[in-house]
Amino acid sequence: MREMVKETDLSARSFIYPVFVVEGENIKEPVKSMPGVFRMSVDNLLKEAKEVESLNIPALMLFGIPEKKDERATAAYAKGGIVQTAIKALKAKHYNLLIITDVCLCSYTTSGHCGIVKNKISPASENTEKESLMDVANEEDVVIYNDATCELLGKMALSHAEAGADMVAPSSMMDGQVTAIRKVLDTNNFKHIPIMAYSAKFESSFYSPFRDIAESSPVTGDRKTYQINPANAAEALREIEFDIQEGADLVMVKPALAYLDIIARAKQKYQMPMVAYNVSGEFAMVKAAASMEYIDEKSVVLEILTGIKRAGADLIITYHAKDAARWLSGKYLL
Ligand code: PBG
Repeated sequence: MREMVKETDLSARSFIYPVFVVEGENIKEPVKSMPGVFRMSVDNLLKEAKEVESLNIPALMLFGIPEKKDERATAAYAKGGIVQTAIKALKAKHYNLLIITDVCLCSYTTSGHCGIVKNKISPASENTEKESLMDVANEEDVVIYNDATCELLGKMALSHAEAGADMVAPSSMMDGQVTAIRKVLDTNNFKHIPIMAYSAKFESSFYSPFRDIAESSPVTGDRKTYQINPANAAEALREIEFDIQEGADLVMVKPALAYLDIIARAKQKYQMPMVAYNVSGEFAMVKAAASMEYIDEKSVVLEILTGIKRAGADLIITYHAKDAARWLSGKYLL
């Protein structure tokens, strides 16, 4: 009876599993703060994908960590770049998996910022923006070339689509990034490729384990100039609305747990497919507490994921996906 009247059904069908791909071979590098999560070369990624498929998780979210970074994030949109190579290899295997790619420059720029950084001392006008692309930040308050970054994000998204990506997910929080990507995709015969927009991405301290794994910490300054202040709900809803107007097919709130109110309000207000990113810090806290036996990992994880769904998320990007899928299918019980 309790099962029959249950309002929220959690299943692997809602999960997206994030994976981190590096250049090289036979690499499977653990990250201390994220037990069970690895940086992997493409050969190991293929094995991982097979396992994910066998657990009935429908989608992978691909993050690339290039060997070489530069100010223009060249490796982000190179044809033979690490993500592009990984997509092709995954697609060649014909797994029953949706391949989603993160579209952001932070792992590819020497500055570690999500866009092209300009020096605050000599702010360029809109007109000189492009000529000054090579400027590097050396000031604490970081300023980003918004439009030039959008152009590069468009190139990056296109290169992913050309490699075979099923969906692109812009996460850099540049104004107009969805418009820029939609335009490039549409004019290059990729009208059918959907955009999952990281619309309400907060300037959060819950990302730090991710920045270790993705090598994407800002060298100077922080992301306060482009990510949302955790105190601002109305602004988050406006950002979501902008992205919908710009053509986003799915919208995301990130992180999840401290922002369930935003997920709930956005779902009610816009009735769009909602995605929640259960981020690295949220995962690391559970793992750490569970390893100390302060909490029971299985029941806490399933409660967290149910809570995110109940708030209004249709899809959940989570590092717990593989474990949760096993627990939900009863494949093993803790
Ligand atoms: C890139 C990006 C970040 C995350 C996903 N995409 C980090 C950031 O904004 O610093 C974080 C994901 C996580 O913490 O699991 N912009």
